[in-house]
Amino acid sequence: MSTPGQPPARTIRIEVMRYDGERDRAPRWQGFDVPYSDDMSVLQGLQAIKDQFDGSLSFRWSCRMAICGSCGVMVDGVPKLGCQTFLRDYAHAGRLRIEPLAHFPIERDLVVDIRDFIGKLEGITPYIVPKQARSPDDGEYLQTPQQLAMFEQFSSCINCLLCYAACPQYGLDDQFLGPAAIALLHRYNADSRDGARVQRMQQLHAEEGVWSCTAVGYCSEVCPKGVDPANAVNQNKVESAKDYFLRFVAPKGAHNGADKATDKATDKGAKT
Ligand code: SF4
Ligand code: FES
Repeated sequence: MSTPGQPPARTIRIEVMRYDGERDRAPRWQGFDVPYSDDMSVLQGLQAIKDQFDGSLSFRWSCRMAICGSCGVMVDGVPKLGCQTFLRDYAHAGRLRIEPLAHFPIERDLVVDIRDFIGKLEGITPYIVPKQARSPDDGEYLQTPQQLAMFEQFSSCINCLLCYAACPQYGLDDQFLGPAAIALLHRYNADSRDGARVQRMQQLHAEEGVWSCTAVGYCSEVCPKGVDPANAVNQNKVESAKDYFLRFVAPKGAHNGADKATDKATDKGAKT
């Protein structure tokens, strides 16, 4: 209904995938004609459905500003953040379809079970393991801009999992470590303060590590934070291959050799 003197509200058809494991045998579509304005995000569209049509609709969100990573959904088959995607961009078609992120089990409606990723994230030691013990008396742990640049891009990951929903290999085999876990692993391995590279490399060498990646690159296309996980995977294919060949050159301590080579490279960067 429009207010006198104002143009009638436009509506857009939002088709949402619904699933309640206690009632539904399979996911089903439900359509809503939602009044919208040009500044409304897809997340706001979902909130309008919940407020005005069906309070049982379930979806995740928190920050509304592309920071928390919780509002990822498939919009017309493409993984996107709901809070960063706008209804106006679908106005030409007059409709859009919203589904839960692909490749994850559905908990309810648009909420997916992300325990597989959380387990992988915990497994990559996602924190800095100091090379040597330090105390507050040692002062700040300084890094040069070059040392920061080695990992900064990869530290922008918000764990939104759009890259997993885009990854055909993860869709085929959920044992694959996957784009974000590899990007975050690389973030810590590339940090000059860290000393846990050797243990993390074991996961990259493993069958479900970097060599499972088929280099499609869609993960980087859909990433909303410019992390470029495909780049992290490619860099670590090189690192993994270097480690492999160093085993033949120096059978004893081959991993340490590769580790020292990496240290030298970052130290060199620090001096330039
Ligand atoms: S790498 Fe990008 S797409 Fe993947 S979880 Fe991190 S922010 Fe999201
Ligand atoms: S609500 Fe936090 S990223 Fe969208």
